[in-house]
Amino acid sequence: MANGLTYIRSTSTSEATKQLASTLAPYLRPGDVIMLEGDLGAGKTQFVQGVAAGLGTRAQVTSPTFNILLQYVDGRMPISHFDLYRLDESDQLYDVGYFECIDGDSDGVTFVEWGGKFPNDMPCDYLEIAITVDSEGGRKIRAHAYGVRARQLLCVWANDSKSRLMKMSGGSIR
Ligand SMILES: Nc1ncnc2c1ncn2[C@@H]1O[C@H](COP(=O)(O)OP(=O)(O)OP(=O)(O)O)[C@@H](O)[C@H]1O
Ligand SMILES: [Mg+2]
Repeated sequence: MANGLTYIRSTSTSEATKQLASTLAPYLRPGDVIMLEGDLGAGKTQFVQGVAAGLGTRAQVTSPTFNILLQYVDGRMPISHFDLYRLDESDQLYDVGYFECIDGDSDGVTFVEWGGKFPNDMPCDYLEIAITVDSEGGRKIRAHAYGVRARQLLCVWANDSKSRLMKMSGGSIR
């Protein structure tokens, strides 16, 4: 359920998107889930690369479009990165270990691209990052909290001046 907390920032380069993402890293805890929304090429994987760098991952973070799930265990906490674009049936979510990662008991943080394909299988509590391309090719990045933990996470992240997130009035981003 939406609880009306939305922050926004524009970035004009992928480096700026990664910088913004890296500022989220210190506040993440095991069990956190970040759902990434946006068209093909919007910058969802770039965002995950930025958080992974902030968590100290040295491995190269690549798109999981073909693997569905890629995991990185060398940073401050394990990262599970899903891309559900190529899945057709929600039953396939069991096969790829999706529910183990989003049930809140995971020992790491989970990122999900294209989770909106399966609206009935969304986590209970998650931070949504929605990325849209503006007319000049820059990106508008909206962060919206669903649930108590996501709200707490968004509040502390937005309080960090390095994130340069701006509060948006009016609540829901949809
Ligand atoms: N401000 C920006 N923020 C993020 N990416 C940007 C920006 N400007 C340009 N780009 C470029 O847009 C592309 C984003 O690619 P990325 O793989 O992150 O998209 P995606 O949303 O994960 O797409 P897909 O749904 O195909 O997985 C990259 O080539 C990146 O360099
Ligand atoms: Mg991607």
